[in-house]
Amino acid sequence: MWKRWLNDGGTPTTGPYDRGWFSSLYFRDPDGQILEIATAGPGYSLDEPPDALGEREIDPAVERTHGHRDEAAIAALTHPEPVDAMTDAMTLTGIHHISGITADLERANEFYSAALGLRLVKRTVNLDDGSMRHHFWAHYDGQNVAARSSLTLFEWPDDGGQAQGGYGQTHHIAFRASSEDEQLAWRDHLMSLGLDVTTVQDRKYFQSIYFQAPDGLLLEIATDGPGFTLDEDPADLGTDLQLPAWLEDRRDEIAARLTPLR
Ligand SMILES: [Fe+2]
Repeated sequence: MWKRWLNDGGTPTTGPYDRGWFSSLYFRDPDGQILEIATAGPGYSLDEPPDALGEREIDPAVERTHGHRDEAAIAALTHPEPVDAMTDAMTLTGIHHISGITADLERANEFYSAALGLRLVKRTVNLDDGSMRHHFWAHYDGQNVAARSSLTLFEWPDDGGQAQGGYGQTHHIAFRASSEDEQLAWRDHLMSLGLDVTTVQDRKYFQSIYFQAPDGLLLEIATDGPGFTLDEDPADLGTDLQLPAWLEDRRDEIAARLTPLR
């Protein structure tokens, strides 16, 4: 249904591709950022025991890889009826995974396991380019993988081609802390590893700390609260220009530079 909705609305898609652990539909936002809609299942225990995820290298099933799958059939597959409006059946339940690029998967694994407690749940290759390694991490207790906790990295050669900031790129990734106490415990932990962590920054709707992964990716741990209903009623969220107290005296100047949202 998402494919039909997006294609008919002028956003070209590719897929859905059978990734084994999930099925993926791809498209781009207006800035060029690659977005994906992935199914929740079947999950990472498709080809490994649930209590031994990430322990061995997985060769993907050949029929799922570039050059062996039926691209014409995949391109033709879509919902048979026009989708006139988004329906409950299309509800997206959050982030399935975030995929980045690293120059060194082993270094990344050391970092994400030590710094954030993420665990390897899949070691495989890019199904669209079998020469490129692709590893998956998640919140994994040795039996279950928590939904919406996956981070994946492709490994590109370290040829000096580190990302430069620009539109269409993910600026940073924020992980959730349930409280300010929990956030401070994370800050202590990260500093105990020798990482350079910012002080707690007041973002009005949440509190944030920032640090960098070895490849330079900016990471954040943000508190859930106090949340966006701090200064607007739940029914009116996003309808008015909201500023933190320290910018209120520049409200007229800031508002004058804004164009109305369509
Ligand atoms: Fe953020």
